[in-house]
Amino acid sequence: MNNAHEHATSRREFIKSTGRAAAASALAGVTLPYVHAAENSTLQVALVGCGGRGTGAVVNALATRQQGPIKLVAMADVFKGRLDDSYANLSKNHGAQMDVPPDRRFVGFDAYKKAMDCLKAGDIVICATPPAFRWVHFTYAIQKGLHSFMEKPVTVDGPTSKRMIALGEEATKKNLKVGIGLMSRHSRPLQELAKRVHNGELGEIILQRGYRMHGPVGFFASPPKPAGVSHLMYQVQRFHSFIWASGGNYSDFYIHIIDHQGWMKNAWPVKAQALGGRHYRQSPDGVTYVDQNFDVYAVEYTYADGTKFDFDGRCMTGCADIYSSYMHGTKGMAIVSKSGDCGGPSSIFKSQTPRRSDLVWESKVGPAEGDPYQNEWNDLIEAIRGDKPYNEVKRGVEASLVTSMGRMAAHTGQEITYDEILNGDHEMAPGLDKITEASDAPVMPGPDGKYPVPEPGRKRTREY
Ligand SMILES: NC(=O)c1ccc[n+]([C@@H]2O[C@H](COP(=O)([O-])OP(=O)(O)OC[C@H]3O[C@@H](n4cnc5c(N)ncnc54)[C@H](O)[C@@H]3O)[C@@H](O)[C@H]2O)c1
Repeated sequence: MNNAHEHATSRREFIKSTGRAAAASALAGVTLPYVHAAENSTLQVALVGCGGRGTGAVVNALATRQQGPIKLVAMADVFKGRLDDSYANLSKNHGAQMDVPPDRRFVGFDAYKKAMDCLKAGDIVICATPPAFRWVHFTYAIQKGLHSFMEKPVTVDGPTSKRMIALGEEATKKNLKVGIGLMSRHSRPLQELAKRVHNGELGEIILQRGYRMHGPVGFFASPPKPAGVSHLMYQVQRFHSFIWASGGNYSDFYIHIIDHQGWMKNAWPVKAQALGGRHYRQSPDGVTYVDQNFDVYAVEYTYADGTKFDFDGRCMTGCADIYSSYMHGTKGMAIVSKSGDCGGPSSIFKSQTPRRSDLVWESKVGPAEGDPYQNEWNDLIEAIRGDKPYNEVKRGVEASLVTSMGRMAAHTGQEITYDEILNGDHEMAPGLDKITEASDAPVMPGPDGKYPVPEPGRKRTREY
C-alpha cells in the first residue's frame, strides 16, 4: 500500500467525510479509502477493452514512467482473441512493465470486475470498450476507489448522461482523478489557441466550421450478421454500426471537432438542426449493408448568442477528403485543427482567408509535447501523483451530449435543443450492467436482416 504516513490530518478528515457522504449514496457500503500515490510508489493499471485504442492508451500510460513506476497488471475483454492480440502486441516492447499472468486476463461481460478486483484503491483503470458500457464500468471503478481513464464518447443518450454526471461528482467526492480521451484538450497548439481566442485575439467569434469527410473506416458499415455469432456479440464487435453501442459513426468519429469548437467558443451550442442521409448501401461486391448509419451529415449548431457552428461529416469513397476545423471572428480567422482531430499547427490570421501574408500567429510545440495522446496521460498521472484536482467527466459528458444533439437532429429531421437531448427518456440499451453473453441484443434486425434506421420526418421522437 502506498504511503499513508505522508498525509496530514486534513487529508484523513477529507477521506473520512467523503466516506460518510458516499455511504449515504448509491455506492453505500463499498467505499474504499484511497491514499494518493506518491512519486516512488508503483501505480498499477488494468485495461478494460483491449482493442486498438485501449492498447494504445496502455502504451501512453506506461510511457509516463519518468514520473514514477507504473505497470499493467490485468486485462479484460469480451473477445479472447482481442485480449490475446493486445497482450502479444504490448509484450513485444513493454514486457518489462507488464505483469499480467493468464489468471489476470479475463474474458466476458463481467471481466471488467475481475480485472478491477486485481487493483488496489488509488490504482488506475482504462475503460476503452464501446461507450455504451462506460457508465457500468465507471460505477465499479468508483466503488473500488480507482482513478479512471475513459475513452470518448462517454455517453450516447440523455439518461446515461445524467447517470455519468452524477458518477463524475461521486468520483470528485472520493478524490478520484478521471481523464477522458478527448485528447484535443491536451494538444499544446489548441491550448495556446484557446488562450489567445479567449483573450480576444479573434474578436467575437461569429462562425465556426468543422469537417470530417473521408472514406468508410472502422465499422461504419456492416453486412448482415453471419451465422455462428449472436446478435449481441455481432453488435458489440461492430459497435460503430449500432447507435446504442457507440452513437454510430456520427458520435464516434465527429465528437473531437465538436468538442474542441465548444471549448474555443467557451460555450456549448444550445440547439441543432441538421440534414443527413444514406446514399450507398451496397458493398463493392454487392452485399447490402444493414447498419444504422447515414453516410452524410450536415449539422448547424447554434449557440445562445445566435452564432453558428457548422459541422459536415461524410463517409464516402471518391469524394474530396477534408478533415480540419476553422473559426471566424470579428478580427480575423483561425485554423483550429489543420488536419485530423487536432493536428497542428494551429494558427491565427488577420483576415478571413488563411493566406500566409495575413498570418498573425502559428503554434510551435517541442517534440516532448507533440503527442496529445501522451500529454493527456502525462497530465493525468501528474494529477494522481501530485494529488491535484482532476476530473474531466462533466465536460466529457457535455461534449458527448452536444454530439448526440446533432446526431438526433439529423436522424429525426427536427430541431433538437440541449435540454431535449439531456432530458430525453430514450435509454438505448437499458440494463447493460446485467448483461451476459446469452442476453438479447439491444436492437434486432427485421426478417430481411436489416436493423431499424433513422427516418427523418417519420420517426421524430426516436432516432430509430
Ligand atoms: N481518442 C481517440 O482518438 C480514439 C481513437 C480510437 C478509438 N477511441 C475510442 O475508444 C473506444 C474503443 O475504440 P477502439 O477503436 O479501440 O475499438 P476496438 O473494437 O478496437 O476495441 C474495443 C474493445 O472493447 C472490447 N469490448 C467490447 N465490449 C466490451 C465489454 N463490455 N467489456 C470488455 N471489453 C469489451 C472489444 O472486444 C474490443 O476488443 C471507443 O469509444 C472509441 O470511440 C478513441
